[in-house]
Amino acid sequence: TGNVTYDPGFMNTAATKSAITYIDGDAGILRYRGYPIEQLAEFDNSLRRHTLLHEELKGFFGGFPRDAHPMPVLSSAVSALSTWYQDSLDPKDDAQVERSTLRLLAKLPVLAAYAHKKSIGQALLYPDNSMNMVENFLRLCFGTAAEPYIVDPDVVKALDLLLILHADHEQNCSTSTVRLVGSSEANMFASVSAGIHALSGPAHGGANEAVLKMLREIQSSGMTPEEFMTKVKNKEDGVRLMGFGHRVYKNYDPRAKIIKKTAHDLLAKQGKNELLDIAMKLEETALNDEYFISRKLYPNVDFYTGLIYTAMGFPEKMFTVLFAIGRLPGWIAQWREMIKDPELKIGRPRQLYMGETARNYPGYQA
Ligand code: CMC
Repeated sequence: TGNVTYDPGFMNTAATKSAITYIDGDAGILRYRGYPIEQLAEFDNSLRRHTLLHEELKGFFGGFPRDAHPMPVLSSAVSALSTWYQDSLDPKDDAQVERSTLRLLAKLPVLAAYAHKKSIGQALLYPDNSMNMVENFLRLCFGTAAEPYIVDPDVVKALDLLLILHADHEQNCSTSTVRLVGSSEANMFASVSAGIHALSGPAHGGANEAVLKMLREIQSSGMTPEEFMTKVKNKEDGVRLMGFGHRVYKNYDPRAKIIKKTAHDLLAKQGKNELLDIAMKLEETALNDEYFISRKLYPNVDFYTGLIYTAMGFPEKMFTVLFAIGRLPGWIAQWREMIKDPELKIGRPRQLYMGETARNYPGYQA
């Protein structure tokens, strides 16, 4: 196997050079292009153009079962964009890359809202470009043609904040997927479509949905948070405390700190919330428990987001879709950085072969 280094899960392998996101996992620091996330949480995104979808593309949403999970629908829709916008597929053409960037940023929230609308059997609305991106998205999800959509500024502010906090996170699983697919010079839509699938797993973005399921299961089973934690610590049926632990953060995930406060602020408006109480009890128990302390397991970005999304009116199936909308600028920035890299090579890991040495197929006669 020559010079191959064995590093399962890429624990210590830098796959690229990047100038986008800096993480110090031990100190709990996250910066985008040098700006601390705590400061960027004030940033307002004003992208309003390119929101319309081709009318025929809207028909696409009717082709999925009503109860389809919106993540594969979203990924398929992004993949389909490469059939509609064939004038922006060439990674080597700067103008085309710029066009696909704008199209994808503007259209993904619309595609996401349509995936939701289809799943609840409501008609699709046209975007209203007098609204900013977040307002427009909320209206497309929750508005109907019959009634005006009343924007709640607290919800807009909270969603804006959450999207910014998710914007990029260095070489995580979905971003690495976007880069790996793009390293073959596949187009931006194809690469991001693959990234959405990578994000969907419960060890990654799907954790936000899994946290809510876990909280509901604890609530409905009558189990106390402490009893649940005993199951986790005994690794019964492989059960984990979802929304806890991180490959890089071994202190506290700085995003989780900001999100916890947002959850409190938004949920306080709605009175007592039993699921929030369970989440806080789980966190408190974990932070004082030797199992979690010794393994450096802290709440991550996904621990409190589901509670906020629920308070906003989103069904659990939409949580990871919201993560995808937030992460999109990061995927695009990483893809663009990669295709401009003069040292770019197709991603192609090696392996340690552990199988049989040469032998004859059963029944083979020399
Ligand atoms: N609950 C209980 N035990 C855990 C947890 C958890 N959430 N996470 C890790 N451990 C234990 C694990 O069993 C192992 O114990 P031992 O040393 O006895 O074998 C030790 O901690 C190290 O875990 P690991 O699986 O080797 O760590 P990793 O870096 O490969 O995994 C992780 C990172 C995020 C996949 C993992 O912590 C996890 O599964 N967490 C729950 C899912 C989750 O919340 N994912 C969201 C990640 S953050 C944002 C995102 O990407 O979406």
